[in-house]
Amino acid sequence: MSTTASPLATKAIRLLLAASGLSAVVLASSSCTEPAAGPARAQARFAQCTPCHGDNGEGKALQIAPAIAGLPSWYVEQQLHHFRSGIRGSHFDDLGGMRMKPMSIALPCPRVRPADLANPMKDGDCEGRDDVKDMAEYVASLPSPPRMAATISASPTAGRQLFAACAACHGADGGGNPAMKAPPIAGHADWYVYTQLKNFKHGVRGSNPKDTQGMIMAGIAKGLPDDASLRNLAQFVSELPVRRPN
Ligand code: HEC
Ligand code: HEC
Repeated sequence: MSTTASPLATKAIRLLLAASGLSAVVLASSSCTEPAAGPARAQARFAQCTPCHGDNGEGKALQIAPAIAGLPSWYVEQQLHHFRSGIRGSHFDDLGGMRMKPMSIALPCPRVRPADLANPMKDGDCEGRDDVKDMAEYVASLPSPPRMAATISASPTAGRQLFAACAACHGADGGGNPAMKAPPIAGHADWYVYTQLKNFKHGVRGSNPKDTQGMIMAGIAKGLPDDASLRNLAQFVSELPVRRPN
């Protein structure tokens, strides 16, 4: 029995790993030839991100992983810290966040100063560099991604009207506003915008008291009347020209 069951079990595990993108991560993190801390290491470690986010950070719908290429480094850095500390990606209903969280934990080099462990917003002072910051800068340096295929068909007119309430923080073109810590959203995949709005509205994202910016956005999402308004907004936002700093 066991001799016939074990290859099947191995196959099942391989399939599971492949499906979650973990096999590539395991391979990448077992490498002993990492460059010294700094931009070259961030670039090498980006190989851990590509199974889900794509070779150029353009996102992969099948992995429910958004396009991250060209997002501003301040936003990427903050989100990586939020995933690492469980501020984002800990809610049981947060399918995408729960996939991303372990990836963020694997990120910094293991030689973290004990003093930094107490502070989730500061870690990875390794060889005089901050691996999280270096990765954020690498992601930000990638060229803006192409638009992803549409999956939602809603009312663009209603979406445009609702978007007036978003422009104050995210900009009239959806290009974001660093002063408000509001990221660019223009041209993000409709399924991603829809999921995030739903997550904010239902306390799956932005309900942790340490999530200052997330709580602001959650307040806005809770004010959106119904599922149709989320879909209308998601379609409208996804059709705006991609606006990322580079
Ligand atoms: C196993 C798949 C997977 C891997 C590997 C992965 N991610 Fe993610 N990542 C996701 C998913 C899924 C989301 C969407 C989370 C959500 O829906 O809230 C995400 C979200 C993010 C976000 C937030 C984007 C936003 O607009 O808020 C950033 C930043 C990010 N990932 C960076 C990275 C980096 C850097 C790496 C490599 C170190 C990485 N990811 C590896 C799956 C992955
Ligand atoms: C008062 C300011 C404010 C307003 C108004 C606002 N947002 Fe946000 N939004 C934010 C902030 C701040 C964040 C970043 C949250 C974080 O850091 O996790 C955010 C995040 C988001 C995200 C997640 C982006 C990502 O990459 O994961 C989406 C989607 C979004 N907002 C859409 C909207 C839409 C649609 C509206 C209009 C209905 C809107 N926002 C109105 C401040 C605002």
